[in-house]
Amino acid sequence: MYGTSDPIRIAISSAAGTYSVVIGAGVLTEPLAVDGTVVIADRYFAPYLTHHGVTEPIYLVADERSKTLSTVDSVLEEMRSRGLRRDGHVLAVGGGIVQDVVTMAAQLYMRGVSWSLAPTTLMSMADSCIGGKSSINVGSVKNLAGGFYPPSEIFIDPSFVETLPQVDQVCGLLEAVKIAFCRSEATFDEYLGMQNASDFTNLATTLKLVLEAKKWFIEIDEFDQAERRVLNFGHTFGHALEAGTSFRVPHGVAVGIGILAAIAFVEISRELSDSEERLRSYVSSVVSSVTDMPEIAQTCDWELFRGAFESDKKHRADQYLLVLPAGGDPRIEVRAVVRSEDSRQRVVDAMRAALEMRY
Ligand SMILES: NC(=O)c1ccc[n+]([C@@H]2O[C@H](COP(=O)([O-])OP(=O)(O)OC[C@H]3O[C@@H](n4cnc5c(N)ncnc54)[C@H](O)[C@@H]3O)[C@@H](O)[C@H]2O)c1
Ligand SMILES: [Zn+2]
Repeated sequence: MYGTSDPIRIAISSAAGTYSVVIGAGVLTEPLAVDGTVVIADRYFAPYLTHHGVTEPIYLVADERSKTLSTVDSVLEEMRSRGLRRDGHVLAVGGGIVQDVVTMAAQLYMRGVSWSLAPTTLMSMADSCIGGKSSINVGSVKNLAGGFYPPSEIFIDPSFVETLPQVDQVCGLLEAVKIAFCRSEATFDEYLGMQNASDFTNLATTLKLVLEAKKWFIEIDEFDQAERRVLNFGHTFGHALEAGTSFRVPHGVAVGIGILAAIAFVEISRELSDSEERLRSYVSSVVSSVTDMPEIAQTCDWELFRGAFESDKKHRADQYLLVLPAGGDPRIEVRAVVRSEDSRQRVVDAMRAALEMRY
């Protein structure tokens, strides 16, 4: 199950050196048993770690409210109390929340200690585990502080998806298809051929495809200055929807709906390509498996939506920067649109059209 029996390996180059991803059932067993490693894990995995004989792990609650500098501070204290030295090693086990906190703590501890990562959610396996970013919430502002500090190794055991709630599986798939679509027609075709929302038989192979696609972006633009920005596809619309629904719509689902809105936005002025049609059909079927989109359209607070869209940190003083499907090659473009009530209304109309499935 979950793909091949031999582990799959991918090497990622970064300014901090090359690090590797290993994908396969059971790949975490060995690193868990290395003496002197301090394990920092999502509390959900307490029984699993006990079963593997891990002593004195540091547990985190995987909740947005944990992603603070004060959590990082207490993790640093816990690392110190376990006698972790500059030449020691940390292993993080969990999804994006644990990853964000541990990336930051590992970077700060004695000015940097080596660490590895075992992502346990589909989003973290397919997307966030590579790239080396950390993001910490400050006050009410999400992901305001952060840095780059890649792990030395990433161990992906795809069988962890089994226990993941369906909505978290869907969130991972939506970030994954975004990456595959942005990379190339061939990658997108391959993705659609191997992955649907209810069958994870080929997950190891899907993860290889998607991580190699993301690798291309992060290796040419490690610090998010150019090419990597297209991976924000769906995010400007999606973040505004998260705000408009007071975060009732989970991030990955909001990104999926954001992709549908970006497609609706360009459809006003041109015909969609075949590839864009197929993206829309895949995304809407995956989103609809967990969400009632027309119901979101009725309950979304559109003033909150507009406010969040207006204050997105990626925009310029006089222009919105929208990541939109471009119809061919390039597949995605970052388009500057003059800030005005008209263009803001077009964004709201596109989101409404997406939610009401007017296509
Ligand atoms: N640093 C980055 O590059 C980056 C990129 C994208 C997102 N993020 C951040 O990631 C966070 C979201 O992370 P996430 O979506 O991976 O989820 P998460 O870490 O928030 O976990 C979601 C829920 O799933 C549970 N869980 C985790 N693995 C499980 C498993 N295998 N089985 C059952 N339950 C499991 C957790 O306990 C939690 O309740 C956000 O804070 C986001 O900002 C970071
Ligand atoms: Zn995202």
